Amino acid sequence: IVLFFSVILFSYLLGSISFSYLIAKKIKKIDIRSQGSGNAGATNTLRVLGVGPAVTVLLLDVAKGVLPIVVAMLLSDEPLVHVAAGLGAIIGHNWPVYFGFRGGKGVATSIGVMATLLLLPALASGIIAIGSIVMTRYVSLGSLLFAILTPIAALLFMIMPSFTYPLEYIFLSIFLAIMSVWRHRTNVSRLLSGTESKLGKKHA
Ligand code: G3P
Repeated sequence: IVLFFSVILFSYLLGSISFSYLIAKKIKKIDIRSQGSGNAGATNTLRVLGVGPAVTVLLLDVAKGVLPIVVAMLLSDEPLVHVAAGLGAIIGHNWPVYFGFRGGKGVATSIGVMATLLLLPALASGIIAIGSIVMTRYVSLGSLLFAILTPIAALLFMIMPSFTYPLEYIFLSIFLAIMSVWRHRTNVSRLLSGTESKLGKKHA
């Protein structure tokens, strides 16, 4: 139990490091959360600062999902400890303790978490998500597809005889999908009304 809560605390504190905020402050001396969509994430970094900073933010935010899980896996074989590490990192990213609890939508960090715990399902849904972004230029749509399709893909993989994943991982992916839809609720209403900003276009 001590290990469980230490892992959650460590991953939450790590997840709370908002790289988009820090990089935007460093490069342009601006608060990323008052620019573009107001989201502290890689997509908005792309909008506000360009490709280089956005790729940096994306990689660092993905790493925030991978690292705590690797640490948790080294410390324990319990799937619940791995899940706690992933969840702590994403909650930290979305509600960072250092930045007034106003962070991002958890997509990049979820990619890191899901790719570490459920590699093939994450890969399968990731391919569909990237395809949808290329076709529609809506990053939020791709993010939502990734979040929603990963648990579905994991369950489909589980039907196959040679694949088995701990149920804790599956529950985490379902919980993350629900949390992601909630974090994207303004994107969802913009997508439905046709006013969501497209990649490469100026933000309205
Ligand atoms: O990762 C967040 C992305 O799905 C949407 O970002 O800035 O368009 O709200 P944004």
